[in-house]
Amino acid sequence: MVNKITSLAEYFRKYQESVADPDGFWGNIAETHFWQKKWDQVLDWSFEGKDAPRVNWFVNGKLNITENIFERNMFMRKDQVAIIWEPNDPKDPEVKLTYGELFDKVKQFANALKKIGVEKGDRVAIYLPMIPELAIAMLACARIGAIHSIVFAGFSASALADRVIDAKAKVVITSDAGFRGNKTIPLKAIVDEALEKCPSVEHTIVYKHNGDDIKFKDNHDIWWHDLIKGVSSENTAEVMDAEDMLFILYTSGSTGKPKGVVHTTGGYMVYTEYTFKNVFQYNDGDIYWCTADIGWVTGHSYIVYGPLLTGATSVMFEGVPTWPDAGRFWDIVDKYKITHFYTAPTAIRALVAQGDQWVTGHDLSSLRVLGTVGEPINEEAWRWYHDVVGKGKCPIVDTWWQTETGGIMISPLAGITPTKPSLATLPLPGIQPVLVDPEGNELKGNAVEGILCIKYPWPGMLRTTYGDHQRCFQTYFSAFRGLYLTGDGAKRDEEGYYRIIGRIDDVINVSGHRIGTAEVEDAINQHPKVVESAVVGYPHEIKGSGIYAYVICEEMSDTDLANIENEIKATVTKFIGPIAKPDKIQIVSGLPKTRSGKIMRRILRKIGEGDATNLGDTSTLLDPHVVEEIIEGAKVEVKR
Ligand code: WTA
Repeated sequence: MVNKITSLAEYFRKYQESVADPDGFWGNIAETHFWQKKWDQVLDWSFEGKDAPRVNWFVNGKLNITENIFERNMFMRKDQVAIIWEPNDPKDPEVKLTYGELFDKVKQFANALKKIGVEKGDRVAIYLPMIPELAIAMLACARIGAIHSIVFAGFSASALADRVIDAKAKVVITSDAGFRGNKTIPLKAIVDEALEKCPSVEHTIVYKHNGDDIKFKDNHDIWWHDLIKGVSSENTAEVMDAEDMLFILYTSGSTGKPKGVVHTTGGYMVYTEYTFKNVFQYNDGDIYWCTADIGWVTGHSYIVYGPLLTGATSVMFEGVPTWPDAGRFWDIVDKYKITHFYTAPTAIRALVAQGDQWVTGHDLSSLRVLGTVGEPINEEAWRWYHDVVGKGKCPIVDTWWQTETGGIMISPLAGITPTKPSLATLPLPGIQPVLVDPEGNELKGNAVEGILCIKYPWPGMLRTTYGDHQRCFQTYFSAFRGLYLTGDGAKRDEEGYYRIIGRIDDVINVSGHRIGTAEVEDAINQHPKVVESAVVGYPHEIKGSGIYAYVICEEMSDTDLANIENEIKATVTKFIGPIAKPDKIQIVSGLPKTRSGKIMRRILRKIGEGDATNLGDTSTLLDPHVVEEIIEGAKVEVKR
């Protein structure tokens, strides 16, 4: 396969090349794609100055990403399976779509979107479960140049509304319902509630998935099957500029308002294909399965775009790892003879807790490469994955990256880079990580620990935050001059391998999902009895981090007090979704604040970790007694 590194020596050579001559390096890779018009310049950029970040890859190049998935591959792959869909309920039939079939469906749905007035540059919000129509809808948007904004179907109506409003979406695509294990989620009803606040939306397209009766608003709501009836699948791809927006994906940051991370067409295409091929070392005929949801970036880059650009067979699964039982993942591996399996540490830890017997009863001999993403993997989970799932013969790629980076940044290349448990190892070609101290001084050499930054653009990086370029600059480029700030802390060991330690900002990584503490606080504060709250992360055996909320409430009766925890949880579920529900809630009479009124989260974090012995300097606190009270209360909390 072109552009695939096949040995460690070649990796080091390519890495050197990519740093010495980034334009030449990425230009050569992009040559293997199909461009309507070639670029004039590989890269034009600045991380500083008033329009920063300014990042333009493949300047004036024209292309359509779907032509690179379909037309470019069609001759070879028309009858090859592109997507295998495994339903939530194993008793239901699976769906297999060849590249030819998927292409026809994408073109037909693209025409259908045009029919209702969706044009190049319009935003389309997609709120679908993990069904093939999700991939079809996103690719149809890309085909006509509409910008997709996929919202994870576990978010609440209120969170969905915020995202639809921010993107000013013209159309929302959903289904009547979605399934997760034995739960049915009424997606259309959630969309209806959200849309009460979203004047920009002209139509809701509804895919019939479970067939239950739903409320239907004439003229506004359109069934997917009615919309495509009689629509042709002849379609010519819209010609896009390399820097035209491909999609927006909202992610959590340090403030309450989610950020719309913007990715553009040319660079994202080149980067996701290159990283997919090299990290996973995918070969023709392999069956690749990433268990993420397409509502998160992992699904965008490594279920849909990266694999399909490569011409891979990619598995999509609607259900959950533990239903109908804890052997479900391994049933699926066995059923489709999966060769590449990519999941999150949190899923691995949850399965470790269920016992080895769920794994050992299955034939997993097809597996060749294992991957993890989303959060640091602890050594115990890594070893279990390696020994019990991989039987000691599959390399593990621990892939570090972010919504903002578009694709994998630091990771072993499967079977090529020697691995060490819990280390993401080495940067991919083209990626220049640096560690800095809090003053921004670069920590050179090995065996150092600091704040992880990236010093040179790469094609898959974010270009802006939707509608607010200044926020992008402030968040990622203002802390240290000329550097992209990742928000993670990392160690570089004696050999130059990277270990990602975790977030250094106010973001908690819960089960591999990013949750901003401010977002959760804003939601908790919506409860009428809540005066103030402070949220921190704490170590959680399965989730990696759990959410710990310290809450000040108004005076309450005993009955109110007995219900308040559940009510707060319900409030968070209503405003964000169940993923952000606090694991622990402690009602307190005050919060540790400095004289200037700033909450000292460091102290709350320590207490949450159960380590109140060394709280550091508390002399600047307005009222040190509050801390003692919280420590006492925390003991009760931990015991329960
Ligand atoms: C964390 C997910 C350790 C990290 C692709 C990052 C990881 C955040 C790893 C991004 C890893 C991701 N080891 N930590 N292999 N991969 N992270 O935007 O804190 O949902 O900043 O993107 O997840 O999460 P996001």
